Amino acid sequence: MAKQNKKGIKSKMILERANTKPDVEFHYTPEELVKYCLSLLNFEKEDVVLDVGAGKNMVWYNNIKIAKKDFCEIELGKDFFEYKEDVDWCIGNPPFKFLWKMMEKSFEISNKGVAFLMAIDGINRFTPKRLEYIKSKGFYINKIAIVNCKKWFGRYFFVIFTKKPNNFFEWSLLNYGDTKLNSEGKFFLSQP
Ligand SMILES: C[S@@+](CC[C@H](N)C(=O)[O-])C[C@H]1O[C@@H](n2cnc3c(N)ncnc32)[C@H](O)[C@@H]1O
Repeated sequence: MAKQNKKGIKSKMILERANTKPDVEFHYTPEELVKYCLSLLNFEKEDVVLDVGAGKNMVWYNNIKIAKKDFCEIELGKDFFEYKEDVDWCIGNPPFKFLWKMMEKSFEISNKGVAFLMAIDGINRFTPKRLEYIKSKGFYINKIAIVNCKKWFGRYFFVIFTKKPNNFFEWSLLNYGDTKLNSEGKFFLSQP
């Protein structure tokens, strides 16, 4: 089958799906995927775990097998940005639009870990400056589980941050495109 035809069929399928299912259902995380992601987290018995944007389906919240759990959901009148308590973990599938803002708040209120499911655009938000910020809050990317969800757009990433230091991820704050010529006609990197 010609490449373009395949693409056309895929677009048609996505459109059909979007037209037949309510948008909100489309964004809900499949329960088996939630269970897999949660299985990667080592909660301790007394930990307080917060689902930052539970959705009306509460699929993450309902699968957290621990006594001290809580949730936020704007549509149920619980705005994460107004959450006042400290917790041990912030977890879930945050809305893409507020992903970084929610991560920032999560690093403020979590004692042990932050674990969010995100698309590649989410990964792309880890600029060196933000990674530096995350480190300044005492968190490190500890694990990234790569998962498929073909009802969405393919590959997704469950990113787990904990306070266990590691130097697996490295970054530089320099802008390597920012070069100048010196008096000898050689390029050098101008510092920020
Ligand atoms: C991608 S959906 C995920 C829903 C559900 N957790 C799931 O995985 O199926 C993100 C959810 O975050 C909610 N949300 C958006 N802004 C929020 C906020 N400021 N506080 C709490 N929840 C919020 C949305 O209403 C939506 O239900």
